[in-house]
Amino acid sequence: MAVQSSKFPRSMSGIPGFDELVGGGFHKGTVNTITGSSGTGKTVFASQFINYGAQIGENGMIITPSESAEYLKREMMSSFGWDFSKLEEEGKLTIVDVTDPDLRLQKSIEIDPVDFLINFRKLVERKLKEVKPARLFIDDLTAFFMAVEAPFKIRSLTDDLFGTIRASGVTSVVTIGTAFSTNQFLEYGADSATMLSRERIKNNLIRSIYIMKMRGSKIANSIRVLDISDDGISVSSLSPYS
Ligand SMILES: Nc1ncnc2c1ncn2[C@@H]1O[C@H](COP(=O)(O)OP(=O)(O)OP(=O)(O)O)[C@@H](O)[C@H]1O
Ligand SMILES: [Mg+2]
Repeated sequence: MAVQSSKFPRSMSGIPGFDELVGGGFHKGTVNTITGSSGTGKTVFASQFINYGAQIGENGMIITPSESAEYLKREMMSSFGWDFSKLEEEGKLTIVDVTDPDLRLQKSIEIDPVDFLINFRKLVERKLKEVKPARLFIDDLTAFFMAVEAPFKIRSLTDDLFGTIRASGVTSVVTIGTAFSTNQFLEYGADSATMLSRERIKNNLIRSIYIMKMRGSKIANSIRVLDISDDGISVSSLSPYS
């Protein structure tokens, strides 16, 4: 019997060329990781997902543990003209800056990383209940997970955080860096995992993307060229090797 796609609604990413790779977009209500080393385009990808959502009536939330909210807003405005301050004013976007002292979520080195991650999960739960966004972007938690030594603790903290996000029904994109393989724990717990990279072809570095997994969906098993321009990110139909 054919599976009805309407039973499993998708959230269009807003990244031209991406949704075709994953059978029509992210499944609604899932946790989707975007992994890559520094400068590969993770923050741009996730910001575009949020910006696109705001244009089609799906309100967004951004939680930034690693960069200050002001810096992220400035960067997206100057690079692509995405006006996150305006979206906030219009009530289409909520930005939660964990560096805000009012949240009392200090990330100083005196704080135990497990305590930080437990408090972070509670903050996410509270904010999702309060605001009820359709889309969520959490920017780069790797540094905090990296500081947790026992692998079983990383697994259970990941499961707790992702479980909280799924329970709220929001469709989320979580970016992760590649330092010390912590990314594998996060990817394991996610519903889909996308990898961003740079391929060295002769004397050129070419941005690339591939889908590592998407639960319950057919995926394209090919590496594609990723373009970043003044319009944002797009996925080309070409392979970096062709
Ligand atoms: N208008 C633009 N045209 C082309 N490339 C751009 C433009 N604006 C930014 N970029 C490029 O996009 C990249 C920024 O990507 P991004 O900040 O998403 O990386 P990241 O993976 O989040 O890195 P990090 O791990 O350091 O946070 C930079 O390499 C930058 O040069
Ligand atoms: Mg980034």
